[in-house]
Amino acid sequence: MRVGVLTGGGDCPGLNAVIRGIVRKGVQEYGYDFVGFRDGWRGPLEGDTIRLDIPAVRGILPRGGTILGSSRTNPLKVQDGIRRIKENLAKQEIRALVAIGGEDTLGVAARLSGEYGVPCVGVPKTIDNDLSATDYTFGFDTAVNIATEAIDRLHTTAESHMRVLVVEVMGRHAGWIALHSGLAGGANVILIPEQRFDVDQVCDWVTSRFRASYAPIVVVAEGAMPKDGDMVLKDQSLDSFGHVRLSGVGEWLAKEIEKRTGKEARTTVLGHVQRGGTPSAFDRWLATRFGLHAIDAVHEGDFGTMVALRGTDIVRVPIAEATARLKTVDPKLYEEVGVFFG
Ligand code: F6P
Repeated sequence: MRVGVLTGGGDCPGLNAVIRGIVRKGVQEYGYDFVGFRDGWRGPLEGDTIRLDIPAVRGILPRGGTILGSSRTNPLKVQDGIRRIKENLAKQEIRALVAIGGEDTLGVAARLSGEYGVPCVGVPKTIDNDLSATDYTFGFDTAVNIATEAIDRLHTTAESHMRVLVVEVMGRHAGWIALHSGLAGGANVILIPEQRFDVDQVCDWVTSRFRASYAPIVVVAEGAMPKDGDMVLKDQSLDSFGHVRLSGVGEWLAKEIEKRTGKEARTTVLGHVQRGGTPSAFDRWLATRFGLHAIDAVHEGDFGTMVALRGTDIVRVPIAEATARLKTVDPKLYEEVGVFFG
């Protein structure tokens, strides 16, 4: 049997570990052969493939990114998209497709499987950890480690110059990276998209920190917003690829802090550094297990499902469960870390 594999959406440390797990078990245990599709859904849409066999996955476990390439192409928004995908899969004699991706990629897989009879199995990925059907997504642990290391390093500059250092981390809709790295890095303020923040309150925390002779670190998720009345320079326009651009909350906040407290402030935007490079050991472990379980689901013909981590078990859930709603930070959890603010 021939199986197609694709990776869609933003790249994420651990994608190659999933691909390796799928191919190794698929070839060795089930005797399958594989076709890699390039650049997410663009691959099956345009019939753009790449060789995917045991030699192709050798040595890729510690490598970041994805050997298959990725894109945010959505075939449901392309004229004749479904028909073209079905034709290309038939041409390649592909009997099943494993789609590794976030909300958008999996949303397409759910519809292809449920409404159009394309046999898909999903594997959840995002550094943001905001897919609701799984306890953790791979990539998140690596991103948190990178952000924590950055915060650790920024403490020394903050202390040496007695400045406020604002660190902007990823997280458009959910503050998981901000919360985990902020707590692990000993930040004095953590701002997340789930809770609008009051700039005067942030400035009070900053001032109280200086009073105790320490320089404060403020961690802010890129999607965090101030309460009504405060203007934030957020450029939410679409770029030429149709992606939403979110930028500016870190810079904006540092300027407000300077204005309102008279203290010098600087911003570091971590950006794609959080998604790059080698995956952590945890992410390699989780991604590999997801790959092994995804090919088992294919073997059992359990299509329309997605692998997910529940406790220490890998289970299968309907793909739609992951895309139905985002997993955001529980207010109680956020309240818990509030004891460190200021
Ligand atoms: O993968 C999710 C994410 O990392 C978000 O946290 C971030 O807002 C977005 O991707 C950035 O996407 P792009 O690389 O397309 O700018």
